[in-house]
Parts: sequence; C-alpha cells; structure tokens
Amino acid sequence: MHSRISARSLETALGGWRTREPAYEALADGIRLLCLDNRIAARTLLPAERLLAQTLAVSRTTVASAYASLRASGHIESVRGSGSVTTAQPLRGGGTVFAEPGSIDLQQASPSAWPGLAGVFTETAAEAATLVSRTGYDTLGSRRLREVIAQRYEARGIPTSAEEVLVTAGAQSAIHLIAEVLVARGDRVLAETPTYPHAAEALRAAGARLVAVPVTTADGWDLDRLREASQRTRPTLAYLMPTFQNPTGRSMTDREQDAFRDAARRGCTLVVDETTAELHFERPAPVAFAPDEVIRLGSLGKTVWGGLRVGWIRARPDVIRRLHAARPARDLGTPEFEQAVASRLVERMSEILPQRAELLSAGYRAARAALQHRLPEWEVPEVSGGVALWVGLPAPLSAPLVLGARAEAVYLSAGPRFAVDGGHENRLRVPFTAPPAEIGRAVDVLAGVWERVRAGVPTAGPAPVDVLV
Ligand SMILES: Cc1ncc(COP(=O)(O)O)c(C=O)c1O
Repeated sequence: MHSRISARSLETALGGWRTREPAYEALADGIRLLCLDNRIAARTLLPAERLLAQTLAVSRTTVASAYASLRASGHIESVRGSGSVTTAQPLRGGGTVFAEPGSIDLQQASPSAWPGLAGVFTETAAEAATLVSRTGYDTLGSRRLREVIAQRYEARGIPTSAEEVLVTAGAQSAIHLIAEVLVARGDRVLAETPTYPHAAEALRAAGARLVAVPVTTADGWDLDRLREASQRTRPTLAYLMPTFQNPTGRSMTDREQDAFRDAARRGCTLVVDETTAELHFERPAPVAFAPDEVIRLGSLGKTVWGGLRVGWIRARPDVIRRLHAARPARDLGTPEFEQAVASRLVERMSEILPQRAELLSAGYRAARAALQHRLPEWEVPEVSGGVALWVGLPAPLSAPLVLGARAEAVYLSAGPRFAVDGGHENRLRVPFTAPPAEIGRAVDVLAGVWERVRAGVPTAGPAPVDVLV
C-alpha cells in the first residue's frame, strides 16, 4: 500500500511552481524539492497525469514530461497498475553529509559547538556518581538547571522562579509539547511567514490551521494583515520569533509588539521562541514582551551546541503544570548528564555569548561581502544578530537554484520551505553559521548555478535533505 497525495494537496504544496520555462521542468523541480524536503514522503502515489493537468490548468503533455524528468532523475518510479510513486531516497543524517568530501551544508543554520564545551563535559563527568544515584526520569527538569535558567531570565530583566520553568529535549520538543497541550484540532494559529518550518509542522500535526502573518526584511511584521487575520479567524495561539526572527533576522518594534498584545487581549496565547534571541553581534537586543504576557521558549542549541538537546519553557506555574502532566506521553524526561552539563553552561552564558557574537558576525560579514561581490543583483539585508540572511532574488528561481547547488554538494533550503501559505519563490535563506571560507565557497557555487538557472539550463540534484534548523 502506498500513501497518496491528491492533486489539490500537491497543487497547494507546490505553491507558485511555474517560475520558469519550460513548464514541465519547473513542475518537475517543484515536485523534486518537495521530495527532497520530505514534504512528500517516500512511496507516495502521485496524482494521475490527467487529474494533475486539470488541477494545475496545464496540458497533459506537461505533466507527462515532468513525470518523465522525475523518473530520469530517480525521484519517482512507475509501479505497474498503480501509477507514479516517489522513491525512497537514501537517508542522510547523523552528520554523514560532512563526510562527503567538499560538501557544504547550509540547510542547518547551526554554529559549531562553543569551544569550551568539551571541557564542561569532562568537569561534569566528575559528578557521575551523584548523577547516577538519581532516578533519572526527570520530566520537569533538575532543580539546579531550572534555578540557573530562572537566574538567567532574571539577568535579562525577566524575574522568574524555578516553578515557572520546564526543561525539555530542545526547543523543538518544547514547541511540540505546547502544540499538543494548547492547540485543539481546527484551532487557528498565527504564524509568521516565513517561519521556522519544524514549528509549523508541529503545530499542524496538533491540528492547527495556520494563519500567516507576513514578515519582510524591509518592513517587518505586516500589522494590517495581523489585525485582519486576528479579527477574522480569532486565533487561539500565535507562534512568534520577535527577536532576530529566523529567517528574516528582524526584531519586533514596540508598535509591532502592541499589535500582538491586541490579539492576546482577544484570547490569543502568545508563544515566543527565543532560540536565537541572544545571538546579537554587538549589544544585546531588548527583551520583547513583558514577563507574563507570553510563554517563552529557550534552547542551548544555537548558543552552545545543537547536539546537547536541551531547551526549556518559561510560563506561569499553572501552564507549566498542564504541560508537565501531558509530557510523559511523549518522553520521560531530559537526560540527567546533559542537564548537568547545561546547568554549568547556563551559569557561564556571559562568557559564552561573546564568542558566539564573534563567530556569527564574522560569518555575517563574509556572507554579505561574498554575496555583494559575486551576486550584486541579489538583495542582501542588514541584520545585527541571528543566524541567517533572508536574501532576495531578482526572479522567483529559488527551487532550481537550490537543486542546482545541491548537484554541486552545496545544500541550502529554498524560500518556499519557510512559507506558511505558499510563496517566497524569490527568496533564499543563507545561514552565516559556517566558517567564512566555507561561506565564500558556497557563494561561488551559487554564483555559477545562478548564471545557468537564469539562462534556463535545467538542474537536478540527487541527494535528499536532512532536518533543517
Ligand atoms: C527558531 C528555532 N526554534 C527552535 C529550534 C529548534 O531548537 P532545538 O535544537 O533546541 O530543538 C530552532 C533550530 O533551528 C530554531 O531555529
């Protein structure tokens, strides 16, 4: 048995696919990218050619040629009596991509580990005897870690007690738990577009119907759309990144925060993801929203290391109790050793953040300089923190560009991957978390591919994608 995708769902997932000629190659690229992004799972039956042609208002020949191109590149196969089925791409993961000589992975906007981390692991190992004397099923988080997280909030001007903190296995797990507990099937949930895709996936998996609030690098949050959406749809929750929004790098002004406060007054719970909020290049960004206006999420994933898998939720004690009660269905706690490591790290944040600022601002300067030099017609925003540049392309060619770069072992995510309701074909997220030399090489590859894509030369990249952070 294959799962299937309807022509309507495929049309929605494809968004504005018709970005270049010939149309069949644009369609094939769109489907290829959906397979590579895991938005169409392996072994999924694609719609019959005639039906898809009708739905997309193209000729049957266009769909037949697109399917032929996908068969030639190994993304689909014909199954006798069934139709066209997506193939299982080899699994990437576990960091294996780094073993591919010369490859550059810019799908994950994830800086390398803080250099002091290995030393903290060693120090923590000395506590091993005490750690293993605990039961180990810690669904709330160790007292020590919750206390140091509370102190860290305090230092940022957000008075907090340990009772207001729940430790999770990374911010992703926190988002998922919040979605499961606070979102009911069919609820409208506001999300920025572009947004962090795995948050959108978690919210949708909980049954949320996402309502997009556009954010642009030039103008920030679209407050007219916000007001209209919040009056029309009465959202129960909003998932927001008010400081160094991933991927635009924008931070909310007071006026923008006020507009979301209005939505909150009408019953919308504001969930604020601060995973990238402390990654400023120079001065710390002002804290967005007052302490008890929002539920906050934090993580050590970008400030220290993604492999640590430690994050947390800060909320009123009654909300923490609800989340805590629901947690065992999904996992039975955060590992003790990692929590002990995290406790030491959170205490040393004022020493860690300057190193991150130096690393990220070097990456940012390298990315901007390389892009401005090699691709002067691209729009490269200015940011003062965060992990990525949301670059504007002069034509809606993000998908073929990403596929072409992939064929040269440079892995990026196309603009539409970050969209909530389609669009962003003329955007590319360029993380500046890699070393400057690598960023320079990636931009060289992009410049070469861009020239070919603009000239309409077909592209096809064989490798599947990994998670995207
Ligand atoms: C905005 C945002 N939220 C959450 C996450 C997931 O964080 P974690 O690694 O702590 O699960 C990421 C990772 O990229 C992110 O960018």
